[in-house]
Amino acid sequence: MNSTASATARLNVPPHVKHERLIAWVGEMAALTGAKDVVWCDGSDEEYDRLCQQLVDAGAFIRLNPELRPHSFLARSDPGDVARVEGRTFICCEHKQDAGPTNNWVAPAEMRELLQTGEKALFKGSMRGRTMYVVPFSMGPLGSPIAHIGVELSDSAYVAVNMKLMTRMGRGALDVLGADGDFVPCMHTVGAPLEPQQQDVAWPCNDTKYIVHYPETREIWSYGSGYGGNALLGKKCFALRIASWMGREKGAELGWLAEHMLLLGVTSPEGKKHHVAAAFPSACGKTNFAMLVPPAGFEGWKVTTIGDDIAWIKPGDDGRLYAINPEAGYFGVAPGTNDKTNANCMATLKRDVIFTNVALTDDGDVWWEGMTETPPAHCIDWQGRDWTPAIGKETGAKAAHPNSRFTVSATHNPALDPEWDNPNGVAIDAFIFGGRRSTTVPLVTEARDWVEGVYMAATMGSETTAAIVGQTGVVRRDPFAMLPFTGYNMSDYFQHWLDMGKRIAALCTKSGAKVPKIFCVNWFRKGADGKFIWPGYGENMRVLKWMLDRVQGRGEGVEHVFGTSPRYEDLNWTGLDFPPARFQQVTSIDPSAWQAEMTLHDALFEELAWHLPTELKATKARIVERLTA
Ligand code: OXD
Ligand code: MN
Repeated sequence: MNSTASATARLNVPPHVKHERLIAWVGEMAALTGAKDVVWCDGSDEEYDRLCQQLVDAGAFIRLNPELRPHSFLARSDPGDVARVEGRTFICCEHKQDAGPTNNWVAPAEMRELLQTGEKALFKGSMRGRTMYVVPFSMGPLGSPIAHIGVELSDSAYVAVNMKLMTRMGRGALDVLGADGDFVPCMHTVGAPLEPQQQDVAWPCNDTKYIVHYPETREIWSYGSGYGGNALLGKKCFALRIASWMGREKGAELGWLAEHMLLLGVTSPEGKKHHVAAAFPSACGKTNFAMLVPPAGFEGWKVTTIGDDIAWIKPGDDGRLYAINPEAGYFGVAPGTNDKTNANCMATLKRDVIFTNVALTDDGDVWWEGMTETPPAHCIDWQGRDWTPAIGKETGAKAAHPNSRFTVSATHNPALDPEWDNPNGVAIDAFIFGGRRSTTVPLVTEARDWVEGVYMAATMGSETTAAIVGQTGVVRRDPFAMLPFTGYNMSDYFQHWLDMGKRIAALCTKSGAKVPKIFCVNWFRKGADGKFIWPGYGENMRVLKWMLDRVQGRGEGVEHVFGTSPRYEDLNWTGLDFPPARFQQVTSIDPSAWQAEMTLHDALFEELAWHLPTELKATKARIVERLTA
């Protein structure tokens, strides 16, 4: 054997892998990390079962009662590794201004020294004693013109099995890659090398965490965390941060959008179908909205899911925007999910699920806050401790972590849209942007035009949730629900949206197609009693139907400073007792609250002054003028 052949043999390269660059990179990374061995994932069911069993044997997975939750597992993370770590997430491009003030930035050379090349570089030897899994995946339907390939190298079998559910993972992705296709290298380690004889822990990780993106060279390097978006690198790191950079790099003429948006289809009783893309910050109900069950009064209406978290959107020659869901599974927030809030999700979760950080019931099933009205008399909480309702009351301890999650294949969703896997995507009729706001922002507003819609999305505020490490319930500006996910300067991102708007408007003028309308919603307004006023969930259909009426040029409404909103009589109330006075509470616009809100827009625009589009400044001036008129 020559030296190349023996190195290849050590890397266990399967005969069907012909991609020299990929093999060389795997070899380099195996050497850097000192991985004990290398396993190439083929994405088969046998492989999934083998790895899950391995995780069970290692104490990292608990197999759930096969009668109650067939083929499903529970993982408990380290209590210090429970959510995305925005403070440890970096965009490492050459020029700081290209990352912008909303991203953490470190110069690429400095970061490389820290992670890869320095004497004490974190990735050096980081996989000692562990297997390195080679996880090839496609973001988007295999071979779709909108899809892209990534390869994640990870020392976590948990990551490998989650990637099988979340992406098109394995042999198919390698086949698309062929001998010289492009791929995004995604390097991941939990940062916990195992010394000989050292006993492993159930959830290895490191207190030091780095989630690093080099957008210019399209690389991702993630160190120290095994949780969600920190570790499943196809999701936030690739499909949002790197992809948003890729989409904008092509410029106004060829550019595209990578967005934190669900995608759904709505079919009317007459069989007319529309597609909607909706952006909400993390843990603000995207999965629930994407799987919405129409309420009483909407007999014959059907809502179907294309995606619940991310959309990749490209203009077609006709000026319409075509979107795919780059993912193939759901990594959703468990608490609050139940048969009333999301019956389709509960049905999706009946089998073949990986749960992380939910509670374990005494009969070997799972439970989380809000799953049933009555909690179990006893269960084991997400940290493996006894939990009873009395303990919960006394100590405030939750049985499930507020950011506990399920991972499940999209194909299990009974409301899956037949077009969800269409390589050409679906044409978007409307965009919805929504934050979590207890006050100020009305239930629904249609923007006057694309530019005012971009303004509303750009200045959106939302109260923080448990999806992010840090304080919850604090209002922060979350432009387009992309604050933690835009992989470049936020002002340039706004400009990209404006440029795309102009491009599609020109194409639509030629083709006769309509530019998507933009709406802003808020399901979360609270009354003086601190309770939500709007019932939300399936009842959001009432608002959705109004938006689609507007798309078809027939919904009525009233114009105000920000755009158009429905009057009480413009919504269908059949089957819901929601009196006009309550409607008034969720739709009222308080000028003094909005004056205060506008000062927050000022602060955002000051922060983003570099490259801030003049159109947005002009829009703001117009709104202020209307407000004070
Ligand atoms: C997610 C998130 O996991 O936004 O989707 O945090
Ligand atoms: Mn998300």
